[in-house]
Amino acid sequence: MRPRIDLTDSLEKIPVKIFPSPKEGSVYVANVIADLIKEKEAKGEKCVIGLATGSTPKTLYAELVRMHKQEGLSFKNVITFNLDQYYPMEANALQSYHYFMRKYLFEQTDIDPHNYFLPDGMLPKEKVKEHALEYERKIEEAGGMDLQILGIGVNGHIGFNEPGSAIYSKTRLITLDNSTRLANSHEFGNISQVPRMAITMGISTILKSKEIILMAWGQNKAPVIKKAVEDDDTEDVPASLLQNHDDCTFVIDEAAASELTRFKSPWLTGECEWTPKIIRSAVVGLALKLNKPVLSLTNNDYNDFGLSDLLTEKGDSYEINLEVYYMLRDSISGWPGGKPNTSHARHPERSTPFPKKVLIFSPHPDDDIISMGGTFMRLHDQGHEVHVGYQTSGNIAVTDEFVTRFIDFAVGFENIFGIDDTKSKKILDDATAFLNSKRSTEKDSEEIRTIKGLIRRCEARATCKYVGLNEEQIHFMNLPFYETGTIEKNPMGEEDIQLTIDLLRKIKPEQVFCAGDLADPHGTHKVCLDVVVEAMERIRTDGDKWIGDCWIWLYKGAWQEWDITEIEMAIPMSPDQVRKKRYGIFIHQSQKDSVPFQGDDNREFWQRAEERNAGTAKLYGQLGLTQYAAMEAFVRWKE
Ligand code: F6R
Repeated sequence: MRPRIDLTDSLEKIPVKIFPSPKEGSVYVANVIADLIKEKEAKGEKCVIGLATGSTPKTLYAELVRMHKQEGLSFKNVITFNLDQYYPMEANALQSYHYFMRKYLFEQTDIDPHNYFLPDGMLPKEKVKEHALEYERKIEEAGGMDLQILGIGVNGHIGFNEPGSAIYSKTRLITLDNSTRLANSHEFGNISQVPRMAITMGISTILKSKEIILMAWGQNKAPVIKKAVEDDDTEDVPASLLQNHDDCTFVIDEAAASELTRFKSPWLTGECEWTPKIIRSAVVGLALKLNKPVLSLTNNDYNDFGLSDLLTEKGDSYEINLEVYYMLRDSISGWPGGKPNTSHARHPERSTPFPKKVLIFSPHPDDDIISMGGTFMRLHDQGHEVHVGYQTSGNIAVTDEFVTRFIDFAVGFENIFGIDDTKSKKILDDATAFLNSKRSTEKDSEEIRTIKGLIRRCEARATCKYVGLNEEQIHFMNLPFYETGTIEKNPMGEEDIQLTIDLLRKIKPEQVFCAGDLADPHGTHKVCLDVVVEAMERIRTDGDKWIGDCWIWLYKGAWQEWDITEIEMAIPMSPDQVRKKRYGIFIHQSQKDSVPFQGDDNREFWQRAEERNAGTAKLYGQLGLTQYAAMEAFVRWKE
């Protein structure tokens, strides 16, 4: 059994190991696996491991492959059983877990192909029950699992044991939750193509493993991690049933740990250092819970909700209330580029220089307008020199129907005006022929990708023109890491960094805006942020002077908003500005009505943006500050 962590300062019922990043967490788990393999080998025994698929274990498998290739870790002695497989699903389909495991682990190591097992997604329904029993039997025959690796769904599923799965459940055919189908729809491009069923090991199968490690990365897993480890165990959150195992550890990154009480409300789990940030978080949380403006909180409220310690340290609730009220008030500003001719020390941005050179990095061609459209327009209207760097082409998010319309237009244009250009004719013919015979799992041809990218480029340019920018202020970077033609992108590369350094050096901005979506560790937004941070770091190391005066502000992409307690700059919007932003988003017609990779939220982007901006304004109002129609929120990036 692995050493237990000290749980005296937490409410956690399962030991949790927290790492700064998925990479570091994965290296830890890879070492546990490597040690186990060697230990078993030394005893002349087989090592039996249960494996998971999905985005979470990819970094783990990459590390195991590295250990195999560079350190000679051998898998000859290893037997593996995968948790699950979609049903129905051909073993060789791109979305099949057979394919996944072969690609990320099996074919890159020396594991014996007779020693890995996955549920079969191709059997006729009447054979599945027998197959499931056989799967359980095989695990037992192998001596039972020594270690089971798990991921976790946002609904708490482990394997595909959806909420409601019994603690006694065994390997079986189950119906996937709609939320799971939506969450996994990005693998398929479209929710309707996601299978409705899956074969999964049961909870009891998992609990029989001698040791269990559940891994989770990213902020979107944080709420379910809290439920699974802190709340009572319940079949509604299958991962919480792991509380019944005596050698289970959760290995998670800081983002996935962020909702745990010891971080979110550290004063409830032990002594804490009352920094301004923690005070703000505690008091705002208290005010929201009691639905009271901050300035109306009383000593009793503090005492009743576990904040007596803060009162003892600070004396009186009124003083604390005021301190927090001022922090909130000072985060609101109608001057995102700084207010000229003022020396307000607590204003979020510097008043000089004015105007500023501003560079907005937009991971996809519409993130600028969706996430900070109001601020974008204000910056321009207030006289700043605003540039936009569109980091990726965004080409995979254009549907085939949409591109067909444009190809039809181009063909019609040539016909009407009698243009007889053989090169362009060939391109259009090839593109049409490709689309006519394209299979749903097939990658787009180079031409189609280029045309799709062009469509998005025209939309972005039109939005910039709508805001008032001229051609020199619009920069299409086409970062190569994105150009795989599939959902899965390459890691950031040297060329991505160099292109970003070049743009930064050309503009020498005093203010940079980036998408700060740390929620999805594998997503395009995260890579786009990493590229900017690395580029800035290199420029700093090279000693460019201007970089010392450049501030980075982070906005959240289409999916989420900052927690109210974190916001450092909130830019108010009038109803008119909200409408103007909506029209700016509408320009992105390829992303309207039916977005191919929409995730588990079926609102359109403009609706998400509006609800979120109105929500932020409402929260400020609830806390006792002026209530605007909407607000965009930013956090400053500090290295
Ligand atoms: C995969 C599996 C699932 C995933 C879970 C998280 O074999 O059994 O339980 O672990 O859906 O998926 P990701 O890692 O993609 O967030």
